[in-house]
Amino acid sequence: MSDIAANGAAPNIHFAAALQDFLRRCPAYQTTSHVDALRAEDYARLDRLGHVYLDYTGGGLYAASQVSAHQEMLLNNVFGNPHSQNPTSLAMTHLVEETRDAVLRFFNASPAEYTVIFTPNASGALKLVGESYPFEADGRYALLYDNHNSVNGIREFARARGAIVDYVPVSLPELRAPTARVLAALEQADRRRHNLFAFPAQSNFSGVQHPLDWIDAAHARGWDVLLDCAAFTPTNRLDLSHVHPDFVPLSFYKIFGYPTGVGALIARYDALAKLHRPWFAGGTITITSVQGDGWHALIPGAAGFEDGTVNYLALPAVEIGLHHIERIGIDAIHTRVIALTSWLLETMTALHHSNGARLVHIYGPENTDARGGTIAFTLVDPTGEPFDFRRVEAAAGARKISLRTGCFCNPGDGEIAHHLSREEMACYFTGKAPSSFYEFYDLLHTATGKTPSTIRVSLGLASNFADAYTFVQFLTEFVDRRADELPWAPEPTLAAIRQRDAA
Ligand SMILES: Cc1ncc(COP(=O)(O)O)c(C=O)c1O
Repeated sequence: MSDIAANGAAPNIHFAAALQDFLRRCPAYQTTSHVDALRAEDYARLDRLGHVYLDYTGGGLYAASQVSAHQEMLLNNVFGNPHSQNPTSLAMTHLVEETRDAVLRFFNASPAEYTVIFTPNASGALKLVGESYPFEADGRYALLYDNHNSVNGIREFARARGAIVDYVPVSLPELRAPTARVLAALEQADRRRHNLFAFPAQSNFSGVQHPLDWIDAAHARGWDVLLDCAAFTPTNRLDLSHVHPDFVPLSFYKIFGYPTGVGALIARYDALAKLHRPWFAGGTITITSVQGDGWHALIPGAAGFEDGTVNYLALPAVEIGLHHIERIGIDAIHTRVIALTSWLLETMTALHHSNGARLVHIYGPENTDARGGTIAFTLVDPTGEPFDFRRVEAAAGARKISLRTGCFCNPGDGEIAHHLSREEMACYFTGKAPSSFYEFYDLLHTATGKTPSTIRVSLGLASNFADAYTFVQFLTEFVDRRADELPWAPEPTLAAIRQRDAA
């Protein structure tokens, strides 16, 4: 392994020494050398094209073998729309049901307890819960500040039906919610009402892993639990025989890259029986009538929640993807990602300007206790001025480093990380709406001097030491640079364009 070069570079003595030091300090990483072999073959396009991919929380990467196995299946079979009795339909029905079973097995979920509903993505799974959960007056929807917008969005369904929406804040520096605070919120439930508690198993912003024993604590206090596993499942084992959340939304492309367009709501039958669908669609009913003006839902089975035709040709690719992860081993992926995250956190926090000031400010834990491989940060110049995230993203892009900037659809963590107050945010939701995130960014920065944007790197199954090393080399370019030093023209805001055009 020691002759691996940093991506796109000739073998270099500093890289070799850094790798040796890393392997000495993280011996567990060496147990995952089969992933290096896999990367060289199945993910060869990364190094052939010189990419450093650091956006696994945005989307996982597919292996070449997944695509060819799926293609072979499609080219050597004839598949029709499932749920009919003709041979091409029956063949497809069989594969759809096989995929459903494979998902349950992958997450060790008992088929007597859980079912799998296929959706277009995790957001589709969340919307199913939001629109069907029996929110009611004096019932509650409790959720952490640390949530993806598709979980935040459920508050609109809750409020529309008169439920109380209760946000539990996370605190700096680690962006965790103290358990006492969570329990205090859970104690508020009126057990005679329907109450839903939502939290992410892993934050898509900070990488924080929230305690899974909150699930039992919530159940004991009269809550149903929605555990958002979209950012957790790609690099962690979710064992649904050990924890028993009621609703588990996820997207498969985040775990193994291909196919996109398929997610799932893994749901407990008991909890599913409480849901009331606000409409019916093809495939979700036993019978309906135009003249009889009624409908009977297929509830509580999975089919009652799958509107119209599922993405049936893509579903066998989900089973192929699950087998791919099983062959690699989710525990090996976890070990590898945590080793690389640990090295990155240590190395990034050790970068200093000549005046002793730190270059990297991390939002979230600076060690790997109860966290995953997603790191949110800002680069700060020697005077304490943050580098504009757009400048950093453009510079990374020029080196084929894919990282992500913005708020990652997780505004709650961003607001806490950047010390933004309720008052500072509320004014953007009355009167004229900013035309884009960039305009909002500029308006807020001008008004408060604060920067509501963050940079995020995230590791995943095909990450290797060379990716981490190349990224840190890139960061060192910012040492002793001033935030305003490099000439750079930001995209003009809509307001600026209008002003210019009017002049
Ligand atoms: C924690 C979390 N939940 C939900 C989602 C929504 O996933 P999708 O965009 O696939 O619907 C994401 C996407 O990044 C996420 O990270």
